[in-house]
Amino acid sequence: EQAEKDGYAHYMLKEIHEQPRALRNTMTGRIDEAQKKVIFPTLQLTPESVQKLEKIYIVACGTAYHAGVIGKQVIERLAHIPVEVDVASEFRYRQPLFQKNTLTIVVSQSGETADTLAALREAKRNGSAVLAITNVVGSSIAREADDVITTNAGPEIAVASTKAYTSQLIGFYLLGLYLAQGKETVDQQARAEVLSALQELPDQVEAILAHADGIRQYAESIKEENQLFFLGRGLDYAVSMEGSLKLKEISYIHSEAYAAGELKHGTLALIEEGTRVIALSTQADLYEKMVSNITEVKARGAVVLGIALANNMELHRSVDEVCLIPVTNELLTPVLSVIPLQLIAYYTSVALGHDVDRPRNLAKSVTVE
Ligand code: G6P
Repeated sequence: EQAEKDGYAHYMLKEIHEQPRALRNTMTGRIDEAQKKVIFPTLQLTPESVQKLEKIYIVACGTAYHAGVIGKQVIERLAHIPVEVDVASEFRYRQPLFQKNTLTIVVSQSGETADTLAALREAKRNGSAVLAITNVVGSSIAREADDVITTNAGPEIAVASTKAYTSQLIGFYLLGLYLAQGKETVDQQARAEVLSALQELPDQVEAILAHADGIRQYAESIKEENQLFFLGRGLDYAVSMEGSLKLKEISYIHSEAYAAGELKHGTLALIEEGTRVIALSTQADLYEKMVSNITEVKARGAVVLGIALANNMELHRSVDEVCLIPVTNELLTPVLSVIPLQLIAYYTSVALGHDVDRPRNLAKSVTVE
């Protein structure tokens, strides 16, 4: 087993460090450099059928669901198609409405999650085309879907998903760009810019991983806490959900991700002297709003770690500590901002002496309902 961990203390740390390669492998063969286009030669979903799509459902569980929450925003913003995102165990029983030109996207690392498979079958029974984003070729979900985009992350052993998640995000960016190609309402220049920034991400993830020492110290400082809050807006909120899940899964510290604008409607009551908050603030158009939310929690005594892009020269004035990530296109920030959150969860779990790769009560793949 030690050999399989490649010298890393845990599978999770190994998999965190494998992300640059996983992201590159997920892009390989899918980008036509000359034409600045995404290509999916095997998809039945052709450029013509794409034009007719009226609605998309994204359905998944756990971390894959969190990738879907980002996927919704990515597809809506890149390709201008309305998207609804659901957890599979809700979707399968809520009698969703299927219009004529609906596409259902199921996301699953293992391709075997019982609720996600049942949701896929429900969609097919209702005449929807199904596209799977999965890491396991030949899995039940891959076999039953009409179309498959494989994430080439390689086997993921640790229960807490890391490289599968960021590879699913790459899958959604590629798909969003594919759906946007040739669409009249889409600014094709902006689309090409996202495509070229996408290809920078693996190197940028590598750069974050090379400077992880500060994150280790931060983890040490939160290990005695019994609760922690993640705040963000838009894409940052979606990443917060994943950061909070990671921390819960392996450190057993209670945490909650909150849409920062909702603070006043409840969570603010829980903020007191010393409460630890992680505030993501990578989106320029939401920046002032986030600063005002940060000021609100600081006024109640919160101790705040801010996560922002490296060209942000201001946030340090509003928070206690900052963690800066490389500058990228705003739509792509989740792939970078989640890396420090994965590392915080990992190092906190290690500091507490927990079984990082096999957290209590959880399984890697949930194949029963
Ligand atoms: C379990 C795992 C999670 C995973 C979820 C969905 O809860 O512990 O890491 O996100 O199942 O799994 P899937 O294989 O469908 O992505």
